[in-house]
Amino acid sequence: MDELKALEQQALAALAQAADETKLREWNTEYFGDSGKMKAAMGQIGKLPKDQKAAYGAEANRVKAALTAAYEAALKEAKEKALQASLTSNPYDVTLPGRPRTRGRLHPATQILRQIYAIFADLGFQIYRTREVETDKLNFEDLNMPAHHPARDMWDTFFTTTPGVVLRTHTSPGQIHVMKESGGKPIRVILPGMCYRNEAISTRSEIQFHQVEGLVVGEGVTMADLKGTITAFARRMFGPERQVRIRSSYFPFTEPSIEVDIDWPKDDPNRDRLTKGTGWLEILGAGMVHPNVLRAGGYDPDKVTGFAFGMGPQRMLMLKHAIDDIRLFWQNDLRFLRQF
Ligand code: PHE
Repeated sequence: MDELKALEQQALAALAQAADETKLREWNTEYFGDSGKMKAAMGQIGKLPKDQKAAYGAEANRVKAALTAAYEAALKEAKEKALQASLTSNPYDVTLPGRPRTRGRLHPATQILRQIYAIFADLGFQIYRTREVETDKLNFEDLNMPAHHPARDMWDTFFTTTPGVVLRTHTSPGQIHVMKESGGKPIRVILPGMCYRNEAISTRSEIQFHQVEGLVVGEGVTMADLKGTITAFARRMFGPERQVRIRSSYFPFTEPSIEVDIDWPKDDPNRDRLTKGTGWLEILGAGMVHPNVLRAGGYDPDKVTGFAFGMGPQRMLMLKHAIDDIRLFWQNDLRFLRQF
C-alpha cells in the first residue's frame, strides 16, 4: 500500500514537470504503457496473500483513476496552451487580401455543342455518343460503301496499323450503332463527336473536327419531317427569320440526298465574303436513310423510313463569329479562346 502511495506521489510530481504534449505522452507511456509502472503495480495483486488482495486492489484502482484524471486534465491544458501560443506568436493576418481564383470557361466548341444539344433536346431528340475509332465496316461498308466504292474518296481517311480499323471520318457510323442497339424501335437521336480526316491543314480544313449527326427512323417518316426539323433548328440557331434552301446532292447512305443552305442576314457586313456573293450558306448534308443502311442496322425498309443529317459545329461557329481560320480551335491559344 505504501508503494502505491509513493507511486502516486512520484507520478503526480513527474506529471507536473511535463511541459508539453510530447512530454505528457512520454509520461503516459511510462505509467500506463504495456510495460508501464501502473501495470506493474496492478500485477502485484497476484503475489499478495488472499486477505490483502481486496484492499490493495481498491487502492490500486483509486490511484489509477486519480492518475488518469490528472493526465487528461494536464493534456487538455497543454493543448489549450499550444493553441494560444500559435495564435499569438504567428498570428493570421485576416486583413490580407485573398488570393484570386482564376475562372475557367467553356471552350467555344463545347459552347456551340451545348447550344445544339439544347435545341434538339427541345425537339425531342436524345443525345447518343459512339466511338471515334471505328471499323471500316461501320464507317463505310454498312453505310452502303463496299470496298473500292469510289465514294470513299469523299473522305480522306486515317487508317490505323490494325487492318480494317480507321479513325471515323464522320459521325455517320453512329447511325448503325444506334439502330443495332434500338432493336427495331423508333429512333430520334443526335450523335455528336470528333471526326478525323487526312487533310492538309489549312485555314479551311483541319484533321480533326466535330460533327453532329442526326437520325430519325420510324413508320411514315418523310422528307417533310427532315425539312421541318432542319428549318426549326436553323431558326433557333441563326435567328427566327432564317430561310432554308434545299439543293439535291449525293451521299451513298442517303437517297435522296440534299444539302441545306440558309440565307445569311443582310445586315452582316461579312455577308458577301461568307456567301461568296450568293447570300446563301451551306450548313449541312442530309437525306432519307438509304434502304441498305436501314437493313445494315437491322431495320426493314419496307416497314420504316428515316432521315439523317450531318453538320459541322466548328463551321457554324465560324459563321456566327466571322472566324476565318479553323486552325484556331485546337491551338489552345488563350487570346483566341478568351473571346468566347
Ligand atoms: N456524313 C456526311 C459527311 O461527313 C454528312 C451526312 C450525314 C450526310 C448524314 C447525309 C446524312 O459529309
